[in-house]
Amino acid sequence: MNVLMLSPGFPDDMPYFTRGLAQVGARVFGVGDQPMQAIPAIAREALTDHLRIGNLWDEQKTVREVQDWMRGRTIDRVECLWEPGMVLAARMREAFRVPGLDVERSITFRDKVRMKETLAKAGLRMPGHARCKTKSEVRAAVERFGFPAIVKPIAGAGSADTHRLDGKDDVERALSTLDHVAEVTVEEFVEGEEFTYDTISIDGRPAYDNVSWYRPKPLVARQNPWISGQAIALRDLERKEIRVGRELGLRVLQALGFESGMSHMEWFRNGAGEAVFGEIGGRAPGGRLTHVMNYACNLDLFLGWAEAVCHKRFTQPIDRRFNAAVVFKRAEGEGTIRRIEGLDGLLARYGEHVAHIDLVRVGEQRRDWRQVVTGDGWIVVRHPELETTMRMADQFGTDLRIYAA
Ligand SMILES: Nc1ncnc2c1ncn2[C@@H]1O[C@H](COP(=O)(O)OP(=O)(O)OP(=O)(O)O)[C@@H](O)[C@H]1O
Ligand SMILES: [Mg+2]
Repeated sequence: MNVLMLSPGFPDDMPYFTRGLAQVGARVFGVGDQPMQAIPAIAREALTDHLRIGNLWDEQKTVREVQDWMRGRTIDRVECLWEPGMVLAARMREAFRVPGLDVERSITFRDKVRMKETLAKAGLRMPGHARCKTKSEVRAAVERFGFPAIVKPIAGAGSADTHRLDGKDDVERALSTLDHVAEVTVEEFVEGEEFTYDTISIDGRPAYDNVSWYRPKPLVARQNPWISGQAIALRDLERKEIRVGRELGLRVLQALGFESGMSHMEWFRNGAGEAVFGEIGGRAPGGRLTHVMNYACNLDLFLGWAEAVCHKRFTQPIDRRFNAAVVFKRAEGEGTIRRIEGLDGLLARYGEHVAHIDLVRVGEQRRDWRQVVTGDGWIVVRHPELETTMRMADQFGTDLRIYAA
C-alpha cells in the first residue's frame, strides 16, 4: 500500500503518525514544505521518498508537482492530520482518485459556518451563528443574538482572534483588532463546561473514541497567561453527562459524512445537561492530546490510526484504565528561562502517577504560549480516580513554577 502523507514532519505529532504508517506496512511518500534534514528522524526513517514543495498553499501547482513526482507509481491513500492541509489533501484525493474526504466535505470540516449549516440541515440543533464579512454585519449579528456572544475566524485555530463579547464596547474593541481576518463568524455564546469527542473511525464508525474535559475552557486559558490549562482524557465515558456528548458526536460524524481517520470535535454541556456542538476537525487533536489518550488506555493511537486508514482494522484492546490529564505550563517573566522550581517535590509525591514530562530547559528562550498550546512544557499525570487526577494536575499547575528573565 502506498500512502501519501502531507507534512510528515510538522507539527509535533505528525512524525508519530508517519511512523505508524510504516509500522503497518505502508510505503510512505511524504509531501511538505520542510527539507528532508528538517524532518524529525522518527518520520524520516519511515519515509520511502519525500517531495519538498516551496509553497504548499498554491494548491493547483502543488497537486501538479506531486502528480509529476509520482508518475509511474500508484497512490492508495492520501492522509493529512494537520488542519491547514485538510483541503489540499482532499484535492490530492480527487486528483489521484483515491477514497477519503473530497474537497466539498473537507471544506465543511474547515468552515465553521458551513459546518453548522450542514448539521442544522441534518436536524441537529445548533447555537445561533452568522457569517460576517463587514463590521456592520458583525454589529447586526450581535444585535440579533444578544450578549454574551462570540466572534471568531471562520477557519481559526488555537482560539486566535476569538473574542467573547459582553457589551457594545467589546464589539468595537474586537472589531478594531480583526481587520486582518477576511471572514468571521458571530455566535451565540454557549455557557457550560467544554469537552472534546475524539475518534478513530473506520468507514464513518468510531473504532475508538475518547472524551476529554478542558479545564478551564480554552478561551479562558488563552486570555489569562497565569493559567496552566489542562485537558483530561476521561476514563468513565458511560456517565450520562458524558454519553450525551458521544451521542452528539456520532450524529455529527454521520451528518458530515466522515470516513476513515481521526476526528476531533469540541462540545459544551449546557445548564440543562444537553450536549451543544462547538466545532469539529477531520484530523487529530492538537495540544498533544493523542499522547494523553494513549496514556489513558495504554495503547498506541498513532499506530491504531495507521492500521485503521490502511487496513480498516483497529486491533489493539481498549482498556480504559486511567484518567489522564495534561497540564500546559507557562513561564513567568520574559526572555530566557532562568530556573524551574517545585519539580522535585512534585515528583517525590506523585512520581508513580506521572506518565510524561517535557519542559523547556534552563537557558532556552521562553515560548510564545499564544502560538504554542503546550507553552513552556507539558506534563501528563494519570490515575484511575478522577478526583485524584484533578488534584495532582492542579498541584502541577500551581507548584511547578518556571521563571524567565
Ligand atoms: N459559541 C461559543 N460559545 C462559547 N464559547 C465559545 C464559542 N465559540 C468559541 N468558544 C470558545 O472559544 C474557543 C475557541 O473557539 P473554536 O474552538 O471555535 O476555535 P479554534 O480556534 O478553532 O479552536 P482550536 O483551539 O480548537 O483550534 C473554544 O474552545 C471555546 O472555549
Ligand atoms: Mg476549538
